Amino acid sequence: MATNRSATQAGPSGAIGVHRSSRKDLAEADIRLMGDVVQPHQPSGDAREPEWHLQDPDTRLYIGDCRDVLAALPDKGEVDLVFADPPFNWDVPYDGWSDDMTRAAYERFTYDWLDGCIEALSPSGSIWVNIPDDSAAEVVLHLKRRGLVMINWCVWHFRFGQCRNSSFIMSKVHALYFCKDPDNRTWNPDAVLEQSDRASIYGDKRTMEKSSNKGMRVPMDVWYGKYWGRIQGNNAERRHGHQNQIPEVYLERVILACSNEGDLVLDPFAGSGTTGTVARAHQRRSIGIEQSEVTAKSAWERIAEIGMKRKGGSAGQSSAIFSRRSSGGS
Ligand SMILES: C[S@@+](CC[C@H](N)C(=O)[O-])C[C@H]1O[C@@H](n2cnc3c(N)ncnc32)[C@H](O)[C@@H]1O
Repeated sequence: MATNRSATQAGPSGAIGVHRSSRKDLAEADIRLMGDVVQPHQPSGDAREPEWHLQDPDTRLYIGDCRDVLAALPDKGEVDLVFADPPFNWDVPYDGWSDDMTRAAYERFTYDWLDGCIEALSPSGSIWVNIPDDSAAEVVLHLKRRGLVMINWCVWHFRFGQCRNSSFIMSKVHALYFCKDPDNRTWNPDAVLEQSDRASIYGDKRTMEKSSNKGMRVPMDVWYGKYWGRIQGNNAERRHGHQNQIPEVYLERVILACSNEGDLVLDPFAGSGTTGTVARAHQRRSIGIEQSEVTAKSAWERIAEIGMKRKGGSAGQSSAIFSRRSSGGS
């Protein structure tokens, strides 16, 4: 069983209630961030055609700066789900993109593409942003001051961070989940269930006596486990020549939980095409935008010809950190 557009199982309703009641105040509050003093990007205004296009389901990939493509998108106000994994301004050598802006310019860039995505979203739409520690706060504040409501602040935890001695090793990125209307959003918890610790560690009979979803639960908001590591080495999903490819299971969880078959999913920073690949495998329509022609070409090959490697890998697993106890006692 899957779909609903209600908030009946919408998670921590107390927290969401607080966000809901404060959204108007925040939208009107005089919040000043560094990027606010920089002039917004002026979109070129040209209507764009996708570079590549497939039917059944409708799948498109545009080449260009997402701020320009979003401004001229024919689907404004119709996108059901946005997933955005922007450049982090960490001086990564992306083809054709300077990932080394001043802090103020990077913040302005961030607000501009976020605004473009918000405009693209339908009134029941949701947005997920994959963002590290140093920019998460600004993204959260900007989405709040635009009146969106936070549903979850998830963490993608990986165990293969870059080794260093100067501080604790970074082993996470934030996965921020906001929506336009918490009472009218797509939320499919049954599509993404994982084994509960009660079932996989403690052998607790009560979970097997439930009337439905025996031994299963909605995943927690820290995500890790099999297939959840960073994509590197000889990982079967790996697309060579791409920077910061995200695991398919991450996109699968987001897409299954927050969209329905036939819905429209948008990724303004397509990279290796993970979002388009997973969306197509699960019968969602999708729009990808990528500024690099070389990167986009490779992404399209993946979306159109290679497809998903680990379909179904995000659901049904256990994320337990202890092995099963023999007696079931504590
Ligand atoms: C972090 S990567 C995305 C990785 C992607 N999630 C994946 O799984 O492969 C960011 C991508 O955004 C692209 N990019 C950077 N600035 C852009 C812009 N203004 N518009 C569109 N794409 C941009 C980069 O070329 C890069 O491919």
